[in-house]
Amino acid sequence: MSEKTVRIRGGRIQTPSGGAENDLLIRGEKVAALLDPSSRISADREIDAAGKWVLPGLIDLHAHTRSPGYEEKEDFLTSSRAAAAGGYTTFVDMPNVEPPTVTVELFENKRAVADRLCIVDWGHFVAPTRLDEIPKLAAAGATGFKFFQVTGGYPHDPRLAIADPARLLETFSAIAETGLPCVVHPFAQTLFESLYHQEVAKGRPGDIHTFSDVYTRDIVWRLAVAILLEVQRETGMRMQVVHTHAPGSFRLLAQAKADGVPVTVATDPKYFHLTEEDIRGQGARAIPGGAVTRDPDRMAAIWEALDTGVIDIIDSDHAPHLLDDLTLMEEDPLIGPFGSPHYEDLLSLMLTDVAEGNLRLGRLVHALTEAPARVLGIYPRKGALLPGSDADLVLVDPGLVHQPQDGQMECKSNWTPYHGRDLVGKPVLTMLRGTVIFGDGQVAVEPGYGRYISGIPQEPDRSHPAGMHPGLSLSPRS
Ligand code: NCD
Ligand code: ZN
Ligand code: ZN
Repeated sequence: MSEKTVRIRGGRIQTPSGGAENDLLIRGEKVAALLDPSSRISADREIDAAGKWVLPGLIDLHAHTRSPGYEEKEDFLTSSRAAAAGGYTTFVDMPNVEPPTVTVELFENKRAVADRLCIVDWGHFVAPTRLDEIPKLAAAGATGFKFFQVTGGYPHDPRLAIADPARLLETFSAIAETGLPCVVHPFAQTLFESLYHQEVAKGRPGDIHTFSDVYTRDIVWRLAVAILLEVQRETGMRMQVVHTHAPGSFRLLAQAKADGVPVTVATDPKYFHLTEEDIRGQGARAIPGGAVTRDPDRMAAIWEALDTGVIDIIDSDHAPHLLDDLTLMEEDPLIGPFGSPHYEDLLSLMLTDVAEGNLRLGRLVHALTEAPARVLGIYPRKGALLPGSDADLVLVDPGLVHQPQDGQMECKSNWTPYHGRDLVGKPVLTMLRGTVIFGDGQVAVEPGYGRYISGIPQEPDRSHPAGMHPGLSLSPRS
């Protein structure tokens, strides 16, 4: 039996290098061809994309599915439904669950749960806290590694924190051997605590406002990034730093990239979209917003880093907590949890930035699709709409003005830190491997449609300054 064909008709295909009026012919799970709109080729099914943009399906390297252990907040089904609604077709989730993913057995247990539930293609970053497990986890198919430098209480689990330079060096060396990427949440924890206590000693309240201010201080991130980069230069591990919003760290990262150090940089929108007013209005839902958005120099530095490619990737940090859980953060920010759901609003939020002239559309598309695909070594199978690519795409209505609402979300916690905000542009249909997974406001596939994405070892490509221009960063190991 021949494979079914689908024609996406009348849309504008948006790629990192620009837009083009092309139809898309899909055969089975793959893109078969880009068609001239006047082409007479027919298909078994047509999807009308007139007036819409067609983007490659979004790829996120920063999902917190909360499974296992915190399924009251989220699980693989609800997180992947939220992702599909937001235009995502692939995500990679994080090890700060209970028990944390630190052994092959725990990784395989997690994988079995996700295989039954997840509706987007998915991978998992395991925690590299046990040196002897690192090669075994890589051999078992881990997508990569993730550790934190921030600590305190859950979700910043002290068991997953690595900050001591000797441990960093041995961990990076072991991961470098695997050829897999390692995601790091950089943070100078002891410096942060000292600065926070100094503020409280000066008379500021020990509350979420003071916390947010100190948590986002440039030195707290810059110092951590400086140490990580120096350890990385010794080992060649492929590192991705997340939450990157501190201008002082951009300087160090740009230099490291120019020197050929294999580092990629991701930021997540809450740091530069949630304001002091949001914290006053919403409390811990808007943490760690506030400090960055009220500083025009910091905002300008972020837009510039996104424009030049010092920041490669916009990830979601989709990190849902129940609203009740956030009261603990308001009582004691040093141990309380914070984090927020992001899948359903992220693309709209960033398209609004494009509409406002803060960011070029091509850079946004690159940061949400091609750049993360390259980190995983799956480009152009994913992260592109080229003949032979997986037919993973999102249709966007670019002019649709809408307001996200608490209580109307796919994510289990069912709230959004962007509640009531006017956003311009909305994903309206998501397709994964030729099948519509979200359309007409509904999830359209059964649990378990997603497939696992194994880690792909890559050699760092040191011949170019990575990330400074789209189209390159890391080439597959031959
Ligand atoms: C994340 C979480 O809740 O798991 N919290 C957060 O601050 N966004 C963990 C993290 O990404 O640091
Ligand atoms: Zn983090
Ligand atoms: Zn996170």
